[in-house]
Amino acid sequence: MNRDAVGIELTGLKRCLFLSGSQIQTPPVKELQFFKKQPEMQTEEVKIFYPPAQRLFPGCCQSLTSKIMLKEKIRRLAKSFHPSIVAIRRHLHSHPELSFQEVETGKFIATKLREFGIAHEVNRGGHGVVALIQGEKPGKKIIALRADMDALPISEANDVPYKSQNQGVMHACGHDVHTASLLGVARILYSLKDEFEGTVKLIFQPAEEKLPGGASILIEEGVLENPRPAFIFGQHVLPGLEVGKVGFRPGLFMASSDEIYLSVKGKGGHGALPQNSIDPILIAAHILTALQQIVSRHANPLTPSVLTFGKINSAGGATNVIPNEVTLEGTFRTFDEEWREEAQLRMKKMAEGIAESMGGSCQFEIVRGYPFLKNDEALTDRARQFAVEYLGSENVVEPDVRMTSEDFAFYSQKIPACFYRLGTGNPARGITSPVHTNTFDVDEDSLRIGMGLMSWLAMKELENS
Ligand code: NI
Repeated sequence: MNRDAVGIELTGLKRCLFLSGSQIQTPPVKELQFFKKQPEMQTEEVKIFYPPAQRLFPGCCQSLTSKIMLKEKIRRLAKSFHPSIVAIRRHLHSHPELSFQEVETGKFIATKLREFGIAHEVNRGGHGVVALIQGEKPGKKIIALRADMDALPISEANDVPYKSQNQGVMHACGHDVHTASLLGVARILYSLKDEFEGTVKLIFQPAEEKLPGGASILIEEGVLENPRPAFIFGQHVLPGLEVGKVGFRPGLFMASSDEIYLSVKGKGGHGALPQNSIDPILIAAHILTALQQIVSRHANPLTPSVLTFGKINSAGGATNVIPNEVTLEGTFRTFDEEWREEAQLRMKKMAEGIAESMGGSCQFEIVRGYPFLKNDEALTDRARQFAVEYLGSENVVEPDVRMTSEDFAFYSQKIPACFYRLGTGNPARGITSPVHTNTFDVDEDSLRIGMGLMSWLAMKELENS
């Protein structure tokens, strides 16, 4: 108990009393017992304190009571829907589909939405599904919630009843959790549709894992129009964060990502007679070393940038054979659109110049990937505060900036957006594997928290309008 603060003593949901600083010297233990007796309530629900300086107005009592009632309602719904949402997640997990191939996943989502009675459209952006839940005055405020739904080309190594039945394909990035959570949110918000004003647009998005990204296709198709959402929320599992916790970071969050393909051509020949050849391996080695100087010498040190080459191949070649051609593949990531353009031009110029100066040639190709992801500061600050109300300040953390990328960034370039992390790890139960590994799994209690928190954020924002 925070004894320095003015406390709020709740003696029942229909009545609450405010205590002054002196009265709160002893925590209102007796009154707290009331909440302990309520099967759906935890005693922590009444640990609500205001700073001593804050003046409490008449009427506060009523709004506070309804706030607590709404939070309780959402918690209760999340708890009661949890088993069915776990079943949905397990179905999705055992039937994963690769990016742009999510045919059955799309059908399954549509079937569930139909069961819930929620209007939706199928085959959006490929196999995506977009649903609308309208409250009172549907046009008053529109918000969007997004979940991705594709899986990865990985063979699952977990020995679990819901193991992937699609050999070589696995939900190793938690998109099954995101989709199941959003279906849970759909159920919760549909149950509460008489209690909010506005419309919630649910976007079940395909193909997050593969360029050009399902988000860019959906946006092109007009998913952010008719009706146009004021902003968008998305959540993503984070196994390094313990279940029960969530992470919000206002501002820059994830990097842009571009793919780089180089083809260095020389003239093959006998390894013992280099004077008769143009060695593309040596040229490629010079290019590799020189390109790193783009990051170390040209990038603003305050703008994170990463250049990594993960693949080098030579066409032919042996200990005594100089090949004709070497190919290199890499990734460039950063947080500034202007610099992104400049770096690409510099890399191309440098690679081509080095190859030419050494008698060879270089084809330089960039495949533009996702832009950087920026969380709207005001929206994310509010969401973080709502998360504190829902989960307690000890369960809301600020994750670091990440050099990984995510196609949710496309939305963030168009409308205010907030992408946050959902803790799914549980070291005590051995659930620690990172995403994109064949042993990745989640603590499924994260589904209860994921759907409850997202519903709470949506309701609070609609209330805010
Ligand atoms: Ni992912």
